[in-house]
Amino acid sequence: MSQNVRVLAAKCCFDIIDSGQSMSDALPHAQAQLDNDLDKALLQEICFGVMRYLPQLESATSQLMAKPLVKQLRPLQFLLYVGIYQLKFMRIPDHAAISETVEAARSLKGQSLTKLINAVLRNVQRHPGIFDFEDAPDPVQFNHPGWIISQLQQAYPEQWQDILLANQQKAPLWLRVNSNKITAEDYSAALTAADIEHQQPLVAMPTAIKLNQAQDVTKLPGYVEGWFSVQDGAAQYAATLLDVKNCQHILDACCAPGGKTCHILELAPQAKVTALDKEPKRLIRVEENLARLGLTATVIAADAAEPDTWWQGQLFDRILLDVPCSATGVIRRHPDIRWLRKKADIPVLVAIQQQILQQCWQLLAPGGSLLYATCSVLPAENQQQITAFLQQHADASLQVIPHQPDPTTVGWQILPNEQQLDGFYYALLVKNGKD
Ligand SMILES: C[S@@+](CC[C@H](N)C(=O)[O-])C[C@H]1O[C@@H](n2cnc3c(N)ncnc32)[C@H](O)[C@@H]1O
Repeated sequence: MSQNVRVLAAKCCFDIIDSGQSMSDALPHAQAQLDNDLDKALLQEICFGVMRYLPQLESATSQLMAKPLVKQLRPLQFLLYVGIYQLKFMRIPDHAAISETVEAARSLKGQSLTKLINAVLRNVQRHPGIFDFEDAPDPVQFNHPGWIISQLQQAYPEQWQDILLANQQKAPLWLRVNSNKITAEDYSAALTAADIEHQQPLVAMPTAIKLNQAQDVTKLPGYVEGWFSVQDGAAQYAATLLDVKNCQHILDACCAPGGKTCHILELAPQAKVTALDKEPKRLIRVEENLARLGLTATVIAADAAEPDTWWQGQLFDRILLDVPCSATGVIRRHPDIRWLRKKADIPVLVAIQQQILQQCWQLLAPGGSLLYATCSVLPAENQQQITAFLQQHADASLQVIPHQPDPTTVGWQILPNEQQLDGFYYALLVKNGKD
């Protein structure tokens, strides 16, 4: 039998915030307990919303209750956020939002708290002023933890507020047309014929298509045939910037779930691609994606920072390092990241990135190029990482990326929502030594 959506939403938010699960693990697990797609979408909307507005939901609740609900009552505290989010941000009629939330409290063994929950929600309805956060401290006003705000203020004194506001937006759905199977023009025509509004806003990349509305991608034209993949426009630059050719040996060192591996092969189907990832489980998705698109790569589960354990001795002409990172550029797509990621994670990630970069650099042929990529907006993982690398490697030179607005910057930093793209960073390095 299908479960109550609000109960699942409260549990899911509890699993993320109190138990540290990621939304990509917790949400599908909760959605699997629902029968219909509308309920699944409602659950997602509520969970995303609570993650986006958590500090304001906490602050509003604390103004209406003497003490938060703790210990075994914590899921009911999250149920309050679920209720308030519906009242303040969704078009569900107030009476339905309140009665459904109170009903959910009963299922969460909160029989004795139904009066309290009802009273808090009614007070939110009656006192809209409690949701005025104009003069609140930055973490509440902007719904982000203080450490992220400080790092953004330091790195982007002019743009930090825009970045935080962009992180609150819903991300658009981008597709990458598989030029191996269909031209971008023909695919655009197929979408138009199916009445699906879309745009091709990236002048240099017509295969990147942005849909005007979220869709079930499995129902889009050509899903089974492999005519397209889902991939943000920013990520679609990776394979293009690498300038891949059929004759090349190419390493995609952090490949799962395989979005960029498949793009490389769509552009150069005869290339010999080695697709590596440390997580064997995540490689299942890579194999599935390659199979759906009819592409072939050598898929290996191994640590990119330890080539002795997997490298066969053939230098690579191209290397893509889409390294593990803070994911601070994709918060609009993964609103839980801001709560799960901690300040202390950053130096750890920087050290892993540095090791992968240094080790894989040795596998690059003279004259070959290596593209370093992150979905981060933090300079420590991006410009500072590459500047330090260039200082230590005389055989590396940095190429200007044609799209970067300022040719003097170290690499190309795309900020979230710039051209409606995810926040991303690219640095293109060439190995000197071949005439
Ligand atoms: C940003 S994701 C890659 C996304 C992928 N390139 C795509 O486009 O679909 C980073 C990946 O790096 C992998 N990873 C982390 N540390 C690694 C290591 N030391 N060696 C290889 N892979 C690693 C993670 O398992 C994760 O799948």
